[in-house]
Amino acid sequence: MRPVADGDRGRPDPAKEASSFVGRRRELAAARKILARERLLTLTGTGGVGKTRLALRIADGLRGTYQDGVHVIELSLLETGDLLVATVAAGMGLRDEGPDPTALLVDYLSDKRMLLVLDNCEHLLQDCVRLVDRILRGAPRVRILATSRQILGVYGEQVLAVPSLAVPDPACPPREIAGHDAVRLFADRAASVWPGFEVDVRNAESVARLAQRLEGIPLAIELAAVRLRTLRLDGLMRELDDFLELPAPGCAVTLPRHRTLRATMDWSYRLCSPAEQRLWARLSLFPGGVDLDTAEAVCEGDGIAAGEVFDLIAGLVDKSVLVSERCDDGMRYRMLECIRAYGGERLQPDEGRMMRRRYLRHYHALVRDNRVDELVPEQLDRYRLLQREQPNVRAALELSLSRPGMGGVALETAGTMWSFSLPAGSLTEGRYWLERSLELSPEPCAARATALWVDSMLAVRQGDVASAMPRLAESHEFAVTTGDERLLPYVVRTSGIAAYVAGDARRGLELLEESIILHRAVDDVAGVALDLYFAATYGSVHAPERAAALGKELLALCEARRAALSRGYAQLSLGIAAWSLDDRERAESLVREAAAFTAQINDRWCLTQCLEVLAWIACADGEHARAAWVLGAAHALWQAVDSSPTRLWYHATWHERCVEQSRRVLGDRDFTTAFRDGARHGLDRAVVRAIGA
Ligand SMILES: Nc1ncnc2c1ncn2[C@@H]1O[C@H](COP(=O)(O)OP(=O)(O)O)[C@@H](O)[C@H]1O
Ligand SMILES: [Mg+2]
Repeated sequence: MRPVADGDRGRPDPAKEASSFVGRRRELAAARKILARERLLTLTGTGGVGKTRLALRIADGLRGTYQDGVHVIELSLLETGDLLVATVAAGMGLRDEGPDPTALLVDYLSDKRMLLVLDNCEHLLQDCVRLVDRILRGAPRVRILATSRQILGVYGEQVLAVPSLAVPDPACPPREIAGHDAVRLFADRAASVWPGFEVDVRNAESVARLAQRLEGIPLAIELAAVRLRTLRLDGLMRELDDFLELPAPGCAVTLPRHRTLRATMDWSYRLCSPAEQRLWARLSLFPGGVDLDTAEAVCEGDGIAAGEVFDLIAGLVDKSVLVSERCDDGMRYRMLECIRAYGGERLQPDEGRMMRRRYLRHYHALVRDNRVDELVPEQLDRYRLLQREQPNVRAALELSLSRPGMGGVALETAGTMWSFSLPAGSLTEGRYWLERSLELSPEPCAARATALWVDSMLAVRQGDVASAMPRLAESHEFAVTTGDERLLPYVVRTSGIAAYVAGDARRGLELLEESIILHRAVDDVAGVALDLYFAATYGSVHAPERAAALGKELLALCEARRAALSRGYAQLSLGIAAWSLDDRERAESLVREAAAFTAQINDRWCLTQCLEVLAWIACADGEHARAAWVLGAAHALWQAVDSSPTRLWYHATWHERCVEQSRRVLGDRDFTTAFRDGARHGLDRAVVRAIGA
């Protein structure tokens, strides 16, 4: 299978280069050579020396080399190692629905030819070591390119120390000076703030001295070069000389490189206005970057005037403290890792406390106000928003779990994120936060009761009915004793799905129908809609007429409320019900449309199921070769979503029948050939062929 499109559509593509790339010919060649022979290469070096940039370049150059592609996982978005595996899996577009994400990941990788780039391993070193070791042992054709300040220390690791960019001797002829990489980088960044800037006879010596002062560290060079927006070159030199307090010329002693960078950051910091400094420090709280609205909502006040944030952001972008990136919802601003860490150190204790409080309040409200299960026209935007904000929500959860008195906030946030975790397929992560929150707040309350059913729901979806049941019982008890009529139907619904998973279809449908009635009684439309979906899909096997009626109702509801995301699921569920009623034509038109839409928005959970149904339809139409091919394509996707048609009640029987029939007609050999061919093709072709467009 080719890598399917990046699952994180909302985020800017990390591999896309925002500024020009300079030099590194020798390192690129060395890395290519090493990766051709060896399986793990770690790029090491101090912060800001260019490890990430080099790794992305290497990865880019090797895109055509690996049959299953190159995947870049940015680990700086993670603050702790607990979610490392889930994040790597998600970064590759895998859903993790199983109980053991590492096993899932390694199993998925086991037959892949792929380059996996793990960027910024240093802060999660031990977890990275463990994961890399498992992958190397379990996935023989996967190669790993890591970047880290320290080596990983895994058996077989090759290390490439990333040096600073080459710096010229100021005494060299200007042309020679201009050819050195450090100077080229300086000239390039200078030209972006001073159009027409070039290294020539007049300035070559100064630029060379400057590059020397900055020791060829790319980040230091970038921070200095943008000063030319307001300064002339000699002014810049003077400032730098004052600031770096270097030993007198001619003295052999130089600063260690990380101190040079640190001094350059101090210098940039000092050049910021007090309000810019404050914003730099405050924005360090956001591992996932911010948009303007968020920065305003969280950072304004106490030294940052209302309406000022936009200009401050512009100032920080000008100083290369913030990097701006376009994503599908406008501009986002983020910091390179070392700059963010520096900002974090500058957050004063009192200010930090206040900011964390606001940060928490903001993300608590953001999650609460953007539930993806609600049938609203902005449903898809909400989904993408939560996808983009996920690193920040994670940081908020971690914060609320570590601050006394914030247990309730953690429970509520974790308990609301399910509406995202479920379609996103991040069940392991969802449960991780829920369980930590539940442990922290054992006393009964509404938020705990909600978190309990949510955790049960995710557990049931992972096939873990055993851990779901006691939690469901506790939640039920709370709902009944407190008379919480809004909570009860969710508990009943989850029990219904649990009954199905445990094999009791009659009881399952009964409970789902009961939940529909209860949700209606309290006018919870989102609740009704999801009940309808589960009842229509699960019910299609043993009660197809009823399932079709419920699916129809769901589709009408989604259309009336223009809820695009749910509409795809409605079409799928109604399609499955129509198929069960032998109404092939209706099934096909519904599922085709759902497939086209979900492919476009990259909702692979729905898409996988659509392809599966289209295979059954091809088989029933007597197109057995096509059926086998589409089954193969669906198989590759089932793997990627960490599930299988045999694990889902409403797919299992039809799936087996379809496989058996096409195999019988085609014969083993032709079936296998078509199946393999389908599995090998990329998602785009699979969709085109399955839809028959
Ligand atoms: N070879 C290069 N060409 C152009 N810019 C570079 C190069 N190497 C690093 N940079 C820039 O320097 C800054 C720091 O680089 P980065 O790769 O993030 O460092 P590290 O990962 O070692 O901390 C970034 O803004 C990056 O774009
Ligand atoms: Mg880096």
